Amino acid sequence: MRVLGIETSCDETAAAVVENGQCMLSNTVASSVELHKAYGGVVPEIAARSHLEVITPVINQAMATARASWDDIDAIAVTQGPGLAGSLLIGMMTARMLAITQDKPLYPLNHVEAHIYANFITESAIEGYQLPADSPALPLLALIISGGHSHIVLVRDHGDYEVIGRTRDDAVGEAFDKVAKMLGLPYPGGPSVSQAALKGDAKALKLPVAQMAGYDFSFSGLKTAVLRAAQVMVGKDFTLASTELPGLLNSRQKADLAASFQETALKTLLDKFSRAVDQYQPTSVVIGGGVAANRRLRELAELTLPAHVAYPDIKLCTDNAAMIASLAFYQAAKAAPANPYKLDILPNMSM
Ligand code: KG4
Ligand code: ZN
Repeated sequence: MRVLGIETSCDETAAAVVENGQCMLSNTVASSVELHKAYGGVVPEIAARSHLEVITPVINQAMATARASWDDIDAIAVTQGPGLAGSLLIGMMTARMLAITQDKPLYPLNHVEAHIYANFITESAIEGYQLPADSPALPLLALIISGGHSHIVLVRDHGDYEVIGRTRDDAVGEAFDKVAKMLGLPYPGGPSVSQAALKGDAKALKLPVAQMAGYDFSFSGLKTAVLRAAQVMVGKDFTLASTELPGLLNSRQKADLAASFQETALKTLLDKFSRAVDQYQPTSVVIGGGVAANRRLRELAELTLPAHVAYPDIKLCTDNAAMIASLAFYQAAKAAPANPYKLDILPNMSM
């Protein structure tokens, strides 16, 4: 089964063709991140307009790279939510239109669930991907960490899963983005904080680890603790606006703040995830989502988790459509396709 996946939930316009959930024939991603940099975060209207401009060329390129004609495509899959409403709409309208005009079954999918399925891609007809040898065996335990989500999910079977932990406030990627802004580092914050952290001392500051019940997380207290530590570092009180910090902190201080924040955030994630792995004893353990691209996370996971961990290729950690096309294959075996004349987006869709 060959699926054309379409993903437009945030600032990446993506399309990909994947065969049988595992073999990637193409993976095209056009990001509008450069347009948002000046604002320090994604501007929804700019993201939506950019999706509208590039969605057709992105799909055409994904089809061309896969050397696929419409006759070769068995189904179309699209992100239904969660995400930015204006962004989701462009992908959804395009997918509905294609499903109707090309007469293909249409599968609406959950973006966070799809991040888990980036781990199921094991073969690629295109160069430049480091993929796992096998798809994860079920039941699996997944840590999904991105700009919008921090979830621990137990997948018993395809379509049968339970969210056993989630963030009560900020997602971990969001905390990276906000700390980057405080330190005057460019958006997106994850890569720039981890880059700055390379030159810093992770033990320079003692930051609090939020004690949450069960497997839940909280990152907003940590973000505030970084702000307070930075205000103290520059010799000011807590009334100093965070927008003043980048001009007052030197690069050594920024590196120490970045390293201490990163280490605490990653330890918070891995402590909980480690306990969940111990309790649930899954057959496989995977990590996905944009923050899974973090190299320090991978080092710490190797040292601290009580099981082998699988990761997608770095390019499949951040938003892409191959993960959507992969999930569709497993979903299609369990659920009927949607009515392309009626399908709507679900910006607040939960797992
Ligand atoms: O999965 P993703 O592309 O989009 C969402 O579904 O949110 O994740 C984007 C998030 C951003 O918050 C970004 O700062 C973070 O992933 N991120 C990272 C790294 N690369 C991206 N966070 C930490 N370290 C990284 N290397
Ligand atoms: Zn995502």
